[in-house]
Amino acid sequence: MRLKEKVCVVTGAAAGIGKAIAIKMTSEGAKVALCDVDETGLRETAAELRELGREVEFFKVDVRRRAEVESMIAAVVAAWGRVDCLVANAGIIQDCQFPSMTDEQWDRVIGVNLTGVFLCGQAAAKVMIAQKSGCILVTSSVVGLYGNFGQTNYAATKAGVIGMVKTWSKELGRHGIRAVAVCPGLIETAILSTIPEKVLEAMKEKVPLRRAGTVEEVANVFAFLASDEASYVSGVAIEVAGGLLI
Ligand SMILES: NC(=O)c1ccc[n+]([C@@H]2O[C@H](COP(=O)([O-])OP(=O)(O)OC[C@H]3O[C@@H](n4cnc5c(N)ncnc54)[C@H](O)[C@@H]3O)[C@@H](O)[C@H]2O)c1
Repeated sequence: MRLKEKVCVVTGAAAGIGKAIAIKMTSEGAKVALCDVDETGLRETAAELRELGREVEFFKVDVRRRAEVESMIAAVVAAWGRVDCLVANAGIIQDCQFPSMTDEQWDRVIGVNLTGVFLCGQAAAKVMIAQKSGCILVTSSVVGLYGNFGQTNYAATKAGVIGMVKTWSKELGRHGIRAVAVCPGLIETAILSTIPEKVLEAMKEKVPLRRAGTVEEVANVFAFLASDEASYVSGVAIEVAGGLLI
């Protein structure tokens, strides 16, 4: 039980990687605040976890809205007294080749993936500074390191959060706070089911391990990073991509 007594906030927790992180962290003893815009998904995830005897609360939060983020963090502190780990994981894609990308596609992705991480990180950091400990983990992507066809907006945000994490590591380290970016590669989530089988096979061929990763394999890394076992890991971007360099 590496996360016993730890209080974790996970955004984008209603589905995919965020849900897997919540499942893993609670299995390690953490209390987890599940945050998402998808209220139905949140209720289902919370019910699933409570059925297993795990301690969770859920909050319908749009990470783009400062007031909603701040009141969620305040409610977590009121309920559990602290925030040991923020997982800023909520993210979206709006792919389009660069010459045709619209302002709306740009703004939407920047809003969730970059502004959302800024707002959640700032609200959590204030609590962590006061308690003199904590860690901020952000879901970036290998796309933030290497770029990707049709993902100008997404790549900008995923590279941007790596810059934020490196800056927070420098600014907040003296308060006992760590910051780390996790860069998943090709991971089996709902998004992959929309990709034609032939294209998917070609993508898997590029992965040295010749397969997509699972959400559990990503969640395992987050659980380690949130634990005291990672007490000297900060200011880095960790790839969970089976060796893939796009
Ligand atoms: N799936 C992959 O292969 C992959 C690879 C690299 C990085 N990532 C990143 O992992 C993270 C999770 O992605 P996923 O694949 O699990 O996607 P997903 O779509 O399954 O989950 C994302 C969750 O974020 C929520 N969300 C969207 N906008 C929000 C907002 N404004 N406020 C709060 N919640 C919001 C969604 O409702 C959803 O539940 C994202 O940041 C994504 O960019 C995914």
